[in-house]
Amino acid sequence: MLTAIEVKPDVYWVGGLDWNARSFHGYTTEDGITYNAYLIMDEKVTLIDTTKAVYADELLQRISNIVDPAKIDVIIANHIEMDHSGAIPAVLEVAKDAQVYASEPAGVRELAAHFGIEGDRVHGVKTGDTLSIGKRELTFVQTAMVHWPDNMVTYSPYDKTLFSNDAFGQHFASGPRFDDEVDYHEVMLQAKKYYANIVQPYGPQTDKAVAAVREIGLENIELIAPSHGVCWRTHIADVIAQYEHWCKGEVVERAIIAYDSMWGSTDKIAHAIADGFMARSIPTKLMDLKVNHASDIMMDMLDAKYVCVGSPTLNSQMLPTVAAFLTYMRGLSPKNAHRVGLAFGSYGWAPLGPKNVAKVLEETGFNMPVETVAMNWIPSQEDLDAIRDKVADLIEAGLALNE
Ligand code: FEO
Repeated sequence: MLTAIEVKPDVYWVGGLDWNARSFHGYTTEDGITYNAYLIMDEKVTLIDTTKAVYADELLQRISNIVDPAKIDVIIANHIEMDHSGAIPAVLEVAKDAQVYASEPAGVRELAAHFGIEGDRVHGVKTGDTLSIGKRELTFVQTAMVHWPDNMVTYSPYDKTLFSNDAFGQHFASGPRFDDEVDYHEVMLQAKKYYANIVQPYGPQTDKAVAAVREIGLENIELIAPSHGVCWRTHIADVIAQYEHWCKGEVVERAIIAYDSMWGSTDKIAHAIADGFMARSIPTKLMDLKVNHASDIMMDMLDAKYVCVGSPTLNSQMLPTVAAFLTYMRGLSPKNAHRVGLAFGSYGWAPLGPKNVAKVLEETGFNMPVETVAMNWIPSQEDLDAIRDKVADLIEAGLALNE
């Protein structure tokens, strides 16, 4: 029988660990994935969230370590996306009388749509509603669009614990269940990658959710228990501060250069652009799409002011690798009043690759203060040296946005 891990007195982690998952909807998960569920042993035995369906047996085994799953009285479904709700039907098979709580109206509707779970056993809750389960009175706060319309978080004042679901999560499978038991930089990096690839499109809504957390008061939160990754108990202030920075879309003086190349000309331009930023002491990262995954680039560009994207021209278009990256990036809505874009690339007879890149960057909402760098055939050393001036102009325009 698998282990349940106590995260607070009478509160247990009973989730599923997918150590070898390397992708979540195409986002690379080099540290695996955790599907967290929490069991609260009170007068009413309460389960907060479940797991992906294939981890139902793992979930029930961990619960069985503490209590017969048939005795579960309450299931709180903070979010109906299947990585958290997939095992609800299996739990209900065993816990025949369990009542299910989900946000009203979206969560209730989604429960019916996904699993046909509806009727008297389903209870819709809204922000400010409470549920007494014995010594504990749980409070619900709806956090719509962090990251589906139904999302909510559950706060237990008795445990000073916030069950935050997707918010503050990380795709990070680990034996230890707390932030201070794993490498700090690794967990913060995975929290950033998670935000960049999952939560980023909903920055304004997340900002409101973080404000609600602030309202509870840091002095009243000893544990943030998300539905992915480790629980935060030591670095709570740090992760909240990072979320505030990310969800406001704040950028710093940093440059990301993402590109692909056919015969090396666009690669030369990319390196010349990188050198231009380095000459001005701007931290820079050059990421060839042949060897860097889009989800890693999104993490790196989350708070980078300068985003340069390059493609040569192939059959009057940009390269498909660049088009795929831009489609992914655009969906994550990284627009920002202070972000500066630059398109670049080479061409033989028509500069349509870099021009199409520029069009997408403009449509995504980036400031595009300097002309696209489009170079015919193979750039000369003189051409490459001239790029440094162009980058200097870009930086000046970027600095002006700070005023
Ligand atoms: Fe982890 Fe939006 O589900």
